[in-house]
Amino acid sequence: MTSVLFEGIGLLYTGDPAAEELRDAALVVADGEVLWTGPSDRAPDADERVDVEGGCVIPGFVDSHAHLVFAGDRTEEFTARMSGVPYSAGGIRTTVAATRQATGGELAGRTASLVAEMLDQGTTTVEIKSGYGLTIEDERRSLEIAAAFTGETTYLGAHVVPPGLSADDYVREVTGPMLDACAPYARWIDVFCERGAFDGDQTREILAAGIAAGLGARVHAGQLGEGPGVSIACELGAASADHCTHLSAADVEALAGSGVVATLLPGAEFSTRSPYPDARRLIDAGVTVALATDCNPGSSFTSSMPFCVALAVREMAMTPLEAIRAATVGGARALRRTDVGALRPGARADLVVLDAPSYTHLAYRPGVPLVRQVWQGGVRVV
Ligand code: NIG
Ligand code: FE
Repeated sequence: MTSVLFEGIGLLYTGDPAAEELRDAALVVADGEVLWTGPSDRAPDADERVDVEGGCVIPGFVDSHAHLVFAGDRTEEFTARMSGVPYSAGGIRTTVAATRQATGGELAGRTASLVAEMLDQGTTTVEIKSGYGLTIEDERRSLEIAAAFTGETTYLGAHVVPPGLSADDYVREVTGPMLDACAPYARWIDVFCERGAFDGDQTREILAAGIAAGLGARVHAGQLGEGPGVSIACELGAASADHCTHLSAADVEALAGSGVVATLLPGAEFSTRSPYPDARRLIDAGVTVALATDCNPGSSFTSSMPFCVALAVREMAMTPLEAIRAATVGGARALRRTDVGALRPGARADLVVLDAPSYTHLAYRPGVPLVRQVWQGGVRVV
């Protein structure tokens, strides 16, 4: 494969702690990987050149939390919320009914357009959850569709208890035949540990079954109130505890000592008009923080990592550097990936050229389409 030299980089955010930011930089990719990064006056020769004309280059965003396989529409629920109706877990059932009725082709088409939307906004790695099927076949089908788009697939049969089943019967199904049907298509298992969804004992049981089947664990924890989700995530060695909007002091302490990534989803607070998570408290305690969209039709219908970066800076007191780190390396940590999220030699050549001199513009110029080019595995895709 030919090598490509990116030159004229005003600011390169590498995500590599050894040299996290480089000014007046260059970068060489070859064979789908980053070959070299460094100062422009020392750039090696390459077969082709791309002049980014003073723009900023960052790793492709790693969106480690998204629910993209669904059908239906919940505009009315959003409208009602904007008039003061609170968000609750129950809205998920509306999407479940529509998803079950949709054909596989419809679901795959919807997923494809959301993935394309993400790519246009610089996301080169995305995690996709099931969770709107909630029958053995509908969950299996959702994961099969998700697996056509990403290796980061998550079995979320435990999203809510579907109508017509007792919680006990449903947990038995989720940990038994549904897990057997879904595990071949999934890398991860997730549980919505929340009032109105699954309690601590159920969460532990479901995650343990997934882990025994070879899946990695991640947990929806502390979205609507404090609960046992974070401590269970730490106890079971989950990769990530997601939302973390409501945390006790013990939760923060447990996260800090655990290696579990706290994945913050400010699109959900924006779209449910709720208080944002306290990112400063987590970062100051030494917790690794990731940012993700939580893209879903109920609580956060955005596919935009730049929007989440802007929210994190404006609403969550994260510095622009902390926010870009959380949206790239942080997301990679949440997926236990070292090959994406940073532009260091040997990493995948997933990168974004911004129409801006620095990544700070993602927050400074919110809502402006600043993604000029996207490269995935060394190939220009946008
Ligand atoms: O992460 N919290 C659980 N799942 C989604 C919401 C899903 C929905 O409302 O459809 C979330 O916010
Ligand atoms: Fe979610």
